[in-house]
Amino acid sequence: MTNRRYAVVGAGHRSQMYVDAITGRYADRAELVAICEPNPVRAQYYMDRVVDAGLPAPAVYAPADLEGMIRAQRVDRVIVCARDDLHAELIVRSLDAGADVVVEKPLTIDAPSAAAIEEAIERTGREVVITFNYRYSPRNSALRQLIQDGTIGEVTSVDFSWVLDTKHGADYFRRWHREKVHSGGLLVHKASHHFDLVNWWIRSSPRRVFASGGLRFYGAENAAARGIGNRPERGTHDGADAFELDLRDDERLKALYLEAEQHDGYLRDRDVFAEGITIEDNLALVVDYDSGATLSYSLNAHSPWEGYRVAVNGTLGRAELEVIERGAVLADEGLHPVLDPSATHAGDSGSLRPEGERLIVQKHWEAAYEVPIVAAGDGGHGGGDELLLADVFEGPGDDPLARPADWRDGVRSISVGIAGNISLETGLPVNVAELGIRFLEAGTVASAEAVRS
Ligand SMILES: NC(=O)c1ccc[n+]([C@@H]2O[C@H](COP(=O)([O-])OP(=O)(O)OC[C@H]3O[C@@H](n4cnc5c(N)ncnc54)[C@H](O)[C@@H]3O)[C@@H](O)[C@H]2O)c1
Repeated sequence: MTNRRYAVVGAGHRSQMYVDAITGRYADRAELVAICEPNPVRAQYYMDRVVDAGLPAPAVYAPADLEGMIRAQRVDRVIVCARDDLHAELIVRSLDAGADVVVEKPLTIDAPSAAAIEEAIERTGREVVITFNYRYSPRNSALRQLIQDGTIGEVTSVDFSWVLDTKHGADYFRRWHREKVHSGGLLVHKASHHFDLVNWWIRSSPRRVFASGGLRFYGAENAAARGIGNRPERGTHDGADAFELDLRDDERLKALYLEAEQHDGYLRDRDVFAEGITIEDNLALVVDYDSGATLSYSLNAHSPWEGYRVAVNGTLGRAELEVIERGAVLADEGLHPVLDPSATHAGDSGSLRPEGERLIVQKHWEAAYEVPIVAAGDGGHGGGDELLLADVFEGPGDDPLARPADWRDGVRSISVGIAGNISLETGLPVNVAELGIRFLEAGTVASAEAVRS
């Protein structure tokens, strides 16, 4: 078997998972022949990583030379890990230059660029795979399995709430994610994971979206209103601010960003209470599905704990999944939460919320029972990451849970956030069929799975 020739496009934080997979477990079938990355420090970081793995250094190209790279290096597949708003252009150019594409979520951030991807796929007949790693998490797979098995009957509605804490959630307000033009806001950047889960759990497509929300915690205006304005752009690094990120504390962040910023001015650690934040931190949506089900969804990005709760109502009963990923963000000794300088932290406040996951089913007229969540193996996300990488690099097997995703799933997942963003602007519900993406106009497309089968 000849190796498939890969190029990574955008060599920042996320690309490491792919670089390590190509040079490690899948080195017998994949070869990293090129890196397309404008920042020389980040490009060198990954070249060194490949060489350290005992493999030949990949060639490095600037984004302007993407087509030249694909031809000169005979690239079979590119892996797009650049900023969200750059995905569409990089996908279309790669397809036109003769490569297939693997792309990180979100597929893209708005409807015109999604339509351009759709046209390029039709024009070239090439393949675009989108990596929805959340599907592979054993707890999410377990929920899909029981719905698919008919355990709770026909799904009538879903109630889904996701909370990001003041550590992870705050991180979306430091760099490019904080600007809607670059990320589509959390409704696209983050919630496309969540909307994909719902589409896939209930095997239906979103039809109409109404959204409400705003920036109510982070950002300069909110800080000023709470009397904590005029903060330094990158923190004081005196260990007294619970919201600052000190890149020197993390070797990888230091190497990828602090030591690279001289070349492009990309600051990874900007203050979360600064001017210029154009995304929301509190969001609520109502989504109608083709199947007749309704989704109520909420996202909060400044919660004291992190995790999610989803309840799926069906004609035979109800399934509930509760996940606590972090019970509390505790202030360190001598570190004072800036939002309430008088507050003293509870010390062991995480103990009321032990980290963990629980999937409960209750059928009508019966007692509730817990469904075991079986880890898929070692590795990240209960072994889910390894399953995803196997599907990407070995090819999707005949997965009874239909976890491998293609561009249609990517479009359906972002359609909720894109319609939600329009709804936030207009105050009106938005029909996804009117977004201008042909795949979504095609009447009642039950699901991308149905189209494929
Ligand atoms: N599936 C997940 O759970 C998950 C997690 C993290 C990130 N992501 C996604 O991965 C992608 C990358 O995120 P990240 O955190 O690594 O971002 P990043 O900013 O660390 O990396 C992006 C890289 O792209 C480079 N770049 C800039 N302009 C470019 C261009 N024109 N062409 C090619 N490269 C260019 C940047 O210099 C940078 O090195 C995003 O789309 C993000 O949404 C997904």
